[in-house]
Amino acid sequence: MILYFSGTGNSLAIARRLAERLDEQVMSLYDAAGKDLTHEKRIGLVFPTYNLEAPKAVRTLVPQLHLSPSSHVWIVITCGAQTNNAIWTVRSLLRKQGVRVGYCHKIRVPDSSAIAFGRNPNDQAWKFDKFASRLTTIGDELAAGRKRLHFAGFDPFGWLISHTRLEEKMGALAQPGVNEAACIGCGICAKVCPQENIALTDKKAHIGNACTWCLGCVHFCPQQAIMVNGKTVAKEQQYHHPDIQLKDMLKR
Ligand SMILES: Cc1cc2nc3c(=O)[nH]c(=O)nc-3n(C[C@H](O)[C@H](O)[C@H](O)COP(=O)(O)O)c2cc1C
Ligand code: SF4
Ligand code: SF4
Repeated sequence: MILYFSGTGNSLAIARRLAERLDEQVMSLYDAAGKDLTHEKRIGLVFPTYNLEAPKAVRTLVPQLHLSPSSHVWIVITCGAQTNNAIWTVRSLLRKQGVRVGYCHKIRVPDSSAIAFGRNPNDQAWKFDKFASRLTTIGDELAAGRKRLHFAGFDPFGWLISHTRLEEKMGALAQPGVNEAACIGCGICAKVCPQENIALTDKKAHIGNACTWCLGCVHFCPQQAIMVNGKTVAKEQQYHHPDIQLKDMLKR
C-alpha cells in the first residue's frame, strides 16, 4: 500500500508510478488515517516538502496511522530543491509508534510554491528528466528490498521552523486568499482542498484557518481567483504535474 499527500499532483504522480512498478495500491493519507493497516507487509509514504518540513497535514495524519512494526516502511519525498527536516520528522513520528523506516529518498520536481515568489513552476519542467531516472532507481531499489536512508538527517533549521511560530510566518508567504470579484462560485477549490478548508457562501469561496499551504486551490482555480500572499496568479503560472488532472485531485 502506498499512502500519499499531494497539493499539485507531484507526489500523487510519483505514488502512482511506484504503485505500478511495485504492484501496490495507492491511498490518500486522509483515507488511511484511523484504518487498520497492520496486515500490510509493505507501506510506502509519498508526500512533499513544505517550508523545509513535512506538510503540517502530514505531521497530523501520520500519528493516526495503524501500521505493524514488522511492515517494511519506506518514504519518498518530493521537493523543489531540498527536503531539509521532512524525512527526519516523519521517521521520528513513526518511531514513536514502534515503526522503523527501512528506505527513504527524494525526487526533485517543479516547485509549486514558485508563484509565491513571482516565478513560474512550469519553467522548471527540465527537472522531469532527472525525475524519471531517479524514479527508476527508487523503483528498482524498493523492488529489490534495499535498505537505504537517503536525506534522512536532522536539520535544525527545519526543526526550528515547525516548532515555533516561524512556520506560520513562512506559510503566510504562500497564504491563499480569494479575489471575490473574480470568483464565480464554481466550488472547484472547495473540492480540491484536502483540508476541507474552503466553504462557499453566497456563491463566493471563503478560506478558513486550517490551511496546510498545499496551493492546490490556487493552481486549479479556473478563474485564477485565488491569490497568493495577496498577489494574483496568471493562468500560465498555474501548475500541476502533467500526469495528474483535476479529476485525480477530486477523487481523494
Ligand atoms: C508552501 C510550499 C512550501 C514549499 N517549501 C519547499 C521547501 O522548503 N523546499 C523545497 O525543496 N520545496 C518546497 N516546496 C516545493 C514542493 O515541495 C514541491 O513542489 C512538491 O513536489 C509539491 O508536491 P505536491 O504537488 O504533491 O504538493 C514548497 C511548496 C509549497 C507549496
Ligand atoms: S475555484 Fe476559483 S472561481 Fe471556483 S469557487 Fe473557487 S475561487 Fe471561486
Ligand atoms: S486552502 Fe488551498 S492552500 Fe490551503 S489547504 Fe486548502 S487547497 Fe491547500
